[in-house]
Amino acid sequence: MDPNINPKLLVILSMMAMIGTSTAAYAGTAWRQASATFYGDETASATMGGACGYGNLWDSGYGAATAALSTVLFNDGYACGQCFQIRCVSSPNCYYGSPATVVTATNICPPNWGQNSNNGGWCNPPRAHFDLAKPAFMKIAQWKAGIVPVSYRRVACRRNGGIRFKFEGNGYWLLVYVMNVGGAGDIKSMAVKGSRTNWIDMSHNWGASYQAFSSLYGQSLSFRVTSFTTRQTIYVWNAVPANWSAGKTYKTNANFS
Ligand SMILES: *[C@@H]1O[C@H](CO)[C@@H](O)[C@H](O)[C@H]1NC(C)=O
Repeated sequence: MDPNINPKLLVILSMMAMIGTSTAAYAGTAWRQASATFYGDETASATMGGACGYGNLWDSGYGAATAALSTVLFNDGYACGQCFQIRCVSSPNCYYGSPATVVTATNICPPNWGQNSNNGGWCNPPRAHFDLAKPAFMKIAQWKAGIVPVSYRRVACRRNGGIRFKFEGNGYWLLVYVMNVGGAGDIKSMAVKGSRTNWIDMSHNWGASYQAFSSLYGQSLSFRVTSFTTRQTIYVWNAVPANWSAGKTYKTNANFS
């Protein structure tokens, strides 16, 4: 060891390194209280589409392990893609041992202003509520319960493969849905770079979609994606080839860990 290095400094430096590599701040936090209902049936076909814009959830990689979030949790769409561990608590309808299920936020559960938030208006602010796809609900409680109290916490999203980009829009308006995001699962901001342009900031459209008013047809595209929760940024170089077209979904090899 270099005798000129203060051992106390070394301790501080190694502590900082540990913090840097430790579990992200959103994970491992305390369990919070909410409630859960379900929508759709066992096939989860009713959960396809949804306010995050993922479309068919089997194609976008989320399957039936999904939830619609009440307004406060949905956070104007910035919660799209976040992962939550949920378990039923304090109800005779909870399955024995309170098994937990992990779901991805893919939809909003809109407020129902005609009903009290303690009697039907479960998704009204300021209530934290999960409207689960029925198969996800059936992992934690008997579906006949209708509604159960739950504990929940954010967890890291484990995804197979890289981020996927689904393209919409036209020659002058690039609209991209971002799916299968790992780590915190969410997005704060994005930029796109055509093979003949500099970086162009994209604006949040709705749900998990981002847009740029630029003519980028015929150029291969790279993306810069920043996580909402961790502010970590990754670059997805040449995410799509020059012959990309609207209506198609492209898989990449890059993702948050
Ligand atoms: C688009 O370009 C890629 C890479 O250059 C190529 O592999 C692919 O076959 C092309 N697709 C079409 C539909 O032309």
